[in-house]
Amino acid sequence: MIAIGNDHVGFELKEAVIEVLKAHNLEYKDFGAYSPDRANYPVYGQKVAMAVASGECDRGILLCGTGVGISIAANKVKGVRCVVCSEPYSAKLAKEHNNANILSMGARVVGPELAKMIVESWLTAEFQGGRHAERVAMLDEIENGVILSE
Ligand code: RB5
Repeated sequence: MIAIGNDHVGFELKEAVIEVLKAHNLEYKDFGAYSPDRANYPVYGQKVAMAVASGECDRGILLCGTGVGISIAANKVKGVRCVVCSEPYSAKLAKEHNNANILSMGARVVGPELAKMIVESWLTAEFQGGRHAERVAMLDEIENGVILSE
């Protein structure tokens, strides 16, 4: 189950994202906003992040004007690794190396066709584990107050 969230600027891009999810036969849950009326991105970033962190949803996709504000909101929730991507290479590596569980995009930055390619790359990539898993575990340690060292 994929959680989707957006503010008013990201609302229109949601359609393109859903197209990709449907093509992969993936179920999704839309956490809003449900119209292009003004909406505060932290609300939707938090909703999606909580759904992913709690295990209600496996992954999430967030959309706002730049993808930045909504990703910052999501990353405040423990257990979330949300990345803003505006091209497919980073989206692929964000999954392979960072095991990013939420993808964020900016509707003022990417058009619908590029957004579809980004979602496709992130969805089809697989976490590579190994040394990357050790580093991702270090990210969890930061959340738990551990001071990291080499
Ligand atoms: C809304 O104007 C805009 O600030 C929002 O969509 C997003 O880009 C924030 O990071």
